Amino acid sequence: MRSLLLHGLRGVRSYSMSTVEQAKRAAAFMAVDQHVQNNTVVGVGSGSTVVYAVERLTERVKNENLQLKCVPTSFQARQLIISNNLVLADLETCPELDVAIDGADEVDAHLSCIKGGGGCQTQEKVVAAAAKKFVVVADYRKDSERLGQQWEKGLPVEVVPFAYKPVAIKMERMGFEPVLRMAKNKAGPVITDNGNVILDVKFDATQERDWKQVESDINNVAGVVEVGLFVGMANVAYFGMEDGTVKTRTP
Ligand code: A5P
Repeated sequence: MRSLLLHGLRGVRSYSMSTVEQAKRAAAFMAVDQHVQNNTVVGVGSGSTVVYAVERLTERVKNENLQLKCVPTSFQARQLIISNNLVLADLETCPELDVAIDGADEVDAHLSCIKGGGGCQTQEKVVAAAAKKFVVVADYRKDSERLGQQWEKGLPVEVVPFAYKPVAIKMERMGFEPVLRMAKNKAGPVITDNGNVILDVKFDATQERDWKQVESDINNVAGVVEVGLFVGMANVAYFGMEDGTVKTRTP
């Protein structure tokens, strides 16, 4: 595994960054550099790749004195914005964004994405839908020909808690295998930022599917808040590659 040694002041602290982390960082930096200018209203996604996008936003605000407004997609994103002293905004004050930059769990050849590995897909989708451009940042492990090739945990589906059982039964009748996502270090299920639970809905990845139809079928089930399928939304994806380059994909 290729690793980069990063040295702190006077070489006192040094640590190595794994190839995957370097790939995430390269993708996120390029996306920020190509889609953020002065006065941009930016949707800040969630997850580990977006941390690097925020690092780059912070650097550019300091170096170029950019005036930005940042709309978070989760509790995590809000904390990232606040702790980096970026300007925190919301959909009430900024209902239309210039760009939303977010990670993904998997991206297929047509730029359909699975999102919600971190349980944030509802706010992520609302923010992406409010943006003129939706930009995906990811490392090479997320790059797939078809959904389900790399991501085996299924489609994250946010559900109002009291409906989880009937929704799970409906998912089974649709040919899926739903699993209630359980918390770690807390008894019981994961509770989302919106106070709901998540069903991870496994599917047969060998089957050809119309993902737009699947998205609408799942979202039509009473009790479902949002499925982590983003179809026809992404304008571009940046994949950080193992060799340090960044590959882009447009629809
Ligand atoms: C959060 O719920 C997700 O949609 C993330 O955007 C997605 O899981 C990607 O996260 P990483 O950047 O950590 O892989």
